[in-house]
Amino acid sequence: MNTIGQSLNLTIFGESHGPVIGCVIDGLPAGESVDTEFIEKQMKRRAPGRFPWETARKEEDQFEILSGVLNGRTEGTPLAAVIFNRGQHSKDYDKTRFIMRPGHADYTGNIKYGGWEDSRGGGHFSGRLTAPLVFAGALAQSILAKQGIHISAHILQVGSVLDTSYDPMGMDPSVWNKLREKDFPVLSDEAGQAMKDAIAQAKRKKDSLGGAVECMAEGVPAGWGSPFFDSLESSLAHMMFSIPAVKGISFGDGFDFASMRGKDAMDPLAYQDGRVVTEANHNGGINGGISNGMPILFRTAFKPVASIGMPQQTIDISEHKNTVLTLEGRHDPCIVPRAAVVVETAAAFVLLDAALERKRDRL
Ligand SMILES: Cc1cc2nc3c(=O)[nH]c(=O)nc-3n(C[C@H](O)[C@H](O)[C@H](O)COP(=O)(O)O)c2cc1C
Repeated sequence: MNTIGQSLNLTIFGESHGPVIGCVIDGLPAGESVDTEFIEKQMKRRAPGRFPWETARKEEDQFEILSGVLNGRTEGTPLAAVIFNRGQHSKDYDKTRFIMRPGHADYTGNIKYGGWEDSRGGGHFSGRLTAPLVFAGALAQSILAKQGIHISAHILQVGSVLDTSYDPMGMDPSVWNKLREKDFPVLSDEAGQAMKDAIAQAKRKKDSLGGAVECMAEGVPAGWGSPFFDSLESSLAHMMFSIPAVKGISFGDGFDFASMRGKDAMDPLAYQDGRVVTEANHNGGINGGISNGMPILFRTAFKPVASIGMPQQTIDISEHKNTVLTLEGRHDPCIVPRAAVVVETAAAFVLLDAALERKRDRL
């Protein structure tokens, strides 16, 4: 449904062209300061309309907290927040109301909700619904930061252009802040420029590009995750697949494990300064669905978005006939640059939930 989490619940609601979108967060610990400046900063990184390669849609993402916060601190009661929808061009969608965008959720949503759904701008399936997710995740991220847990995501890939990967053993903390300040979060600015060029070219061709985001969480202690079904990998994957357009996730060496030998895939255990570490991190910091104290590392793959300006073969459900769709409206040729902060903050939400679950393990 539209609620996720074990000890910490997040419910998301709204549609792209309704008056508001928003969330309710239940289970937050009381007395935590709410760093609105940090939340705003993270939400700005997701909002479109800032760069030439992005959709011209302006989404201000201005939020209002309605409950659960008093004098800047969480009350422990449900926190409700709304983000206002402004500047929608609903008319853009009138002409294509019954023409299903292939690869989008128009057809499947219509089947599920029997035509009662608001499909303007993607409705509840719009990438815009990631705004309340970033709100909730950024709040979780600021709470975790005070516990020494740092989460960071960068654009790993756009089309066939690759950024430098994170070192699975951990990164210098200065990298996290630098990435967060960048408009285009990549480790190699040269790769970043090649990605921007590829996006601009896709836009000129009225096409779109996919890519990948790499995310790392450092400082997570050993012991988080609730196997069987709520293993840390399961919970992160559940959250990541909830982000529209995510089509894959892998942890540590991921699919490369399939062709490796045991001796090369090993993460030898050792004591180092009285602390248990692993001397490699092929497993991305998780064993048996439980964090092992090493950096948690995973990658998510995003598909090239469906709304492209080229003519597309599809169906008209009002007339039950095949047709060709040529889309107007304002769309992103590549959402990966905006999606990095969505992955980063969504991961933070899952990790704060796991932290709270951990408190229930033993009396
Ligand atoms: C931040 C963000 C922005 C998005 N913008 C678009 C867009 O402009 N056009 C589009 O076709 N899809 C966009 N999407 C993806 C669609 O919402 C998604 O493909 C659709 O809901 C179908 O879901 P699926 O791709 O996961 O199957 C966006 C996704 C995100 C995360």
